[in-house]
Amino acid sequence: MKPYVICHMMSSIDGHALTDGWDRSFKKNAGDLYEKLAKQFEFDAWVCGRVTMQEIAHGEGYPKGLATSPIPRTHYFAVRDAAQYAISIDPHGKVEWKNNQALDSHIVEVVTEGVTDDYLAYLQSIKVSYVFGGNSEIDLARVTEILASELGIKRLVIEGGPHVSGSFVNAGLVDEVSVLILPLVDGRGEHPASFEVTPEAWAQPTYLILVSADVQEGGGVWLRYKKPA
Ligand SMILES: NC(=O)c1ccc[n+]([C@@H]2O[C@H](COP(=O)([O-])OP(=O)(O)OC[C@H]3O[C@@H](n4cnc5c(N)ncnc54)[C@H](OP(=O)(O)O)[C@@H]3O)[C@@H](O)[C@H]2O)c1
Repeated sequence: MKPYVICHMMSSIDGHALTDGWDRSFKKNAGDLYEKLAKQFEFDAWVCGRVTMQEIAHGEGYPKGLATSPIPRTHYFAVRDAAQYAISIDPHGKVEWKNNQALDSHIVEVVTEGVTDDYLAYLQSIKVSYVFGGNSEIDLARVTEILASELGIKRLVIEGGPHVSGSFVNAGLVDEVSVLILPLVDGRGEHPASFEVTPEAWAQPTYLILVSADVQEGGGVWLRYKKPA
């Protein structure tokens, strides 16, 4: 059965999601509040895209030549009883993890069958789990089903960046959208919006129902929406 999926983002008033260039203490307070609000969702897994995961991983390369023969394209689970999982949407196998933990969660890489054998061997060597989300493209619906059936994940929080959040919403997989609106106008129109969908994938807007709007200390507003029944 599909997990309950919540997409949680923080955004400037003008709808932007990149925090670089923001004042350091503003950014820290916003990040702390964003994480505090996320905890209320009591999730067993959180998901981020390849770009965001690279920021978390601080990768420095990985040893090449570990694969001595072709590695079967079957899911690999190094751990099945983690308290929490970090799901990395990384179709081409680019995130260079140093170990199998991201922010105290066991890492599960979601890759396509086109990744190199070396990358899979490297993940196995550091006991990072991986699942195949598709042949050449990732099918997010299939991924959520695999996470539920293989790891028993019941509540999944999508935590960005904009391309991953936009993809999950656009695919109709999100039950709840949560946005923390921060009291600033970013002003950089060329930066991604909080939810980005490629023109090829976009079919129609996603209409939502407001559940709550709570003013936060510091002037942020936490908006929660659900999918219409
Ligand atoms: N404001 C917030 O709440 C918030 C939250 C998290 C992160 N962020 C910020 O957002 C920024 C990164 O955002 P981003 O949108 O550029 O990157 P992202 O969503 O973190 O990662 C995007 C990448 O993930 C892979 N991907 C995403 N959707 C996919 C799909 N449907 N199918 C296959 N692959 C998919 C692709 O990897 P490949 O390019 O390898 O194909 C894509 O380029 C960072 O600066 C981070 O700090 C903000």
